[in-house]
Amino acid sequence: MLAASLAVFAAACAPRGDRDDSLKSSSSETAAPPHPPARPVVLATWNHGLPANLAGLARLADGGSALDAVEAGCRVVELDCPDMTVGLGSRPDRDGFVTLDASIMTGEGRAGAVAFVRGVIHPISLARLVMERTPHVLLVGAGAEQFARECKVELRDECQRCDAPGGACLSPAAEREWRAWLTEKRYEPKINIENHDTISMLALDREGRMAAGSTTSGLAYKMHGRVGDSPIVGAGIFVDAPIGGAICTGLGETVLRTLGAHLAVEAMRAGATPQEACEHAIRRVIAKNGDPSGYQVGMLAMDYAGRTGAFAVQRGFTYALQEQLRDAASALA
Ligand code: GLY
Repeated sequence: MLAASLAVFAAACAPRGDRDDSLKSSSSETAAPPHPPARPVVLATWNHGLPANLAGLARLADGGSALDAVEAGCRVVELDCPDMTVGLGSRPDRDGFVTLDASIMTGEGRAGAVAFVRGVIHPISLARLVMERTPHVLLVGAGAEQFARECKVELRDECQRCDAPGGACLSPAAEREWRAWLTEKRYEPKINIENHDTISMLALDREGRMAAGSTTSGLAYKMHGRVGDSPIVGAGIFVDAPIGGAICTGLGETVLRTLGAHLAVEAMRAGATPQEACEHAIRRVIAKNGDPSGYQVGMLAMDYAGRTGAFAVQRGFTYALQEQLRDAASALA
């Protein structure tokens, strides 16, 4: 019988104004397993990381790979995201369009991504198809949508009810909020609410393969055409065997300026633990982007031993970590 250890954690916060980039150790890191990879591990951003991880673990228990686990987990949140920040139920851009970004990557350097796509129910699966069926890494906009039709992935028809430009298909809740926003049109993303946008996920399977994925609608009321860090390999996600992987969430522009996920993996290559790597990368994000009071970035990292780390610019960042134990007895040991 397989059992999973379940938990949602709040990440430690970087002290404001701290510019110390030294790679210090931290007590919040999980203990190193004795025989890497001792067990499958899944790690995902925010509270919606919990259902994502459970779907990922179920896929791993079924014989799936880390790549399968990441795709399965992200698909759950794409269909049901109470925060309206992932999938077609999300808040739209300022013009009333829900445009989605996603990426997926393996430790062997295979990667696929889509950006600025409309009507695609599972952008994470489309990103995987870009990786597996094209010679490219990133498809955007109309070209990505054309590829989606060619691959016969699940699409949602244009909405006839909504009178937003282009017939953007909004959920009733998103449409209500967007229409309220239109009365003032003030662009002030709320930290941990409208910035708390992305499901990003890392998985390590029993064979020692690692994969990362990310899927998001990006910032609510963003400019039409805006793309954040999530579909950009090296920014929102990065994995490199045999070092480890890192994933981000938060205000994409701040992560794009530093290639945050790549930065964290390179810190691990230089000897940092996953926790130290996250702290190092978040401090660089703050150093590059100035006063951190107006934005949130959360970062998670994992190495191939299954050790994990987490850090964030602001309080309020949560993440989910699950490990698959061999049996119920070992869960109690
Ligand atoms: N982190 C997601 C975005 O900024 O689009």
